[in-house]
This record gives sequence, structure tokens and C-alpha cells, in this order.
Amino acid sequence: MGLNQISKIVILTGAGISAESGIQTFRDKGGLWEKYSLEEVATPQGFRKNPRFVHEFYNQRRRDLFKVKPNPAHYALARLEQEFPGEVLLVTQNVDDLHERAGSRNLLHMHGELLKVRCEACNVILKEEGEIFPETKCPKCGRQGTLRPHVVWFGEMPFYLDEIYKALKECDLFVAIGTSGTVYPAAGFVMIARECGAWCVELNLEPSTVADYFHEHHYGPASEVVPVWVDKILKRETN
Ligand code: OAD
Ligand code: ZN
Repeated sequence: MGLNQISKIVILTGAGISAESGIQTFRDKGGLWEKYSLEEVATPQGFRKNPRFVHEFYNQRRRDLFKVKPNPAHYALARLEQEFPGEVLLVTQNVDDLHERAGSRNLLHMHGELLKVRCEACNVILKEEGEIFPETKCPKCGRQGTLRPHVVWFGEMPFYLDEIYKALKECDLFVAIGTSGTVYPAAGFVMIARECGAWCVELNLEPSTVADYFHEHHYGPASEVVPVWVDKILKRETN
């Protein structure tokens, strides 16, 4: 398939797109899962065992967010959404807010958001830019110790899956950016999109574990590769 006749694009992003903004990825050398135990800070069991430690981990990551800013890859995707004549859906595994700060609006945070917390008692979802402790009371129901980060932990179901699967089945172009292809269901999105007829493109620093499923690959830092790719799509589609 050529690149003409594209009307629907689905983009999946992962930690690699935020790496050059200064947010550590998970599985690269020196990544978060080398420094922290995934079982301790990213599972419901770890949270039940030591809520104070888990809150502190997310408090720190929330604080770190205010020291970073979007890079040219985030801005290029926002520009694609604004200028592409068809539909662009951005699905991100990232819990940072760099896509929205760059201007992306049609965006689904399938693994949740660092800047939100949720009450396990009354289910309210609240914006949170500061710190949470086991003593913190839920501003809605008033209970103590019921707030948790609004992020998806291992063993939990990602958000928006129905909407995402529908978009994957309907899209003409699927692009994965900065993701290692190790965490499902996101790693399997390429298989669904391809099966349903989409042209599939991987933009990453190096081949991901699912690289063979993509038709086209461009390897390099996201801040360079993504703007070039977006320019190419916009030139073809708007001329
Ligand atoms: P990973 O840390 O697994 O993978 C990051 C990918 O980005 C790797 O393939 C790198 O080669 C690539 N990369 C690194 N620097 C890059 C750069 N400057 N430009 C382009 N690519 C670069 O992160 P994810 O695939 O996002 O889930 O991880 C998926 C999920 O695993 C996360 O959402 C998180 C994690 O555990 C949950 O917490 C539920
Ligand atoms: Zn509550």
C-alpha cells in the first residue's frame, strides 16, 4: 500500500518518545526497572504491602515532571493532529503529560496519568500535582488511605481498550514510536492493525521485539525521526 488514501491514523507511543525530554525509560540501560523493583512499585500487591513507599515513588515522578518539557517529537505529533486532513488518534503508554503540553488533544492515556489519583472507595478521579501519603483523605468521600495513583499496574486492565481496538480495526496507518514491544496488550496492537489492513510503521531507537510485524522502519532518536516522518506524511496528504 502506498501512502495516499490515508484517512485514519493511529499512533502508539512509549517511553522512548519522552527519553530526550529527560524522563527515564523502563528497560534501557539505567532504566527505571533496573533501579526499582517492578513488583514493589507497579503492582496492586506491592501497593498493599507498602503504600507509603509506592506513594513516594509516584510523588517523586510527579515532581520530576515539572523539570522536563516536550521535545520536537511531541510537537511534531501535535502538528500532525492539527494539520492532517483526516483523523489522528494518539494512544500513549506514557503517564507523563508531555503530549498534552505539546498540544495533542485526541489522546488516550491507556496506562493512566501521573497527574491524577483515584479513590478506591468512591472511585472519584482527581487531578493531583502534589504529594499523596497514606494519611491523605479523599476530598470527595473523606476516607483516609483510599487514594492511589491513577496509573495501570501489572495485572490490571489498561484503560480505553474498546475504543482503541475499534480505532485499530478502522485505521489505514498504524505507527508505533519509542516502545520496546514487551508489554501487552499494547505490543500486540501492530498485529491487529496489520491484520485489518493498515500500513504499519515503527519509529524507534532500535528494532523492538515486535519489529518484524511492521512494514516500514525508521531507527534513530525520536526528536529527529518523528519530525521527518510527520513532514513526509503532511507533504503527501496536503499537496
Ligand atoms: P521501554 O522502556 O520498555 O522501551 C523504551 C523504548 O524506547 C526502547 O525500545 C528504546 O530503544 C526506545 N528509545 C529509547 N530512547 C529513545 C529515543 N531517544 N528515541 C526513540 N526511541 C527511544 O518503554 P515502553 O515500551 O513504553 O507500563 O514500556 C511499556 C510499558 O512498560 C510502560 O508503559 C510501563 C512499563 O512497565 C506500565 O507501567 C503499566
Ligand atoms: Zn473517595
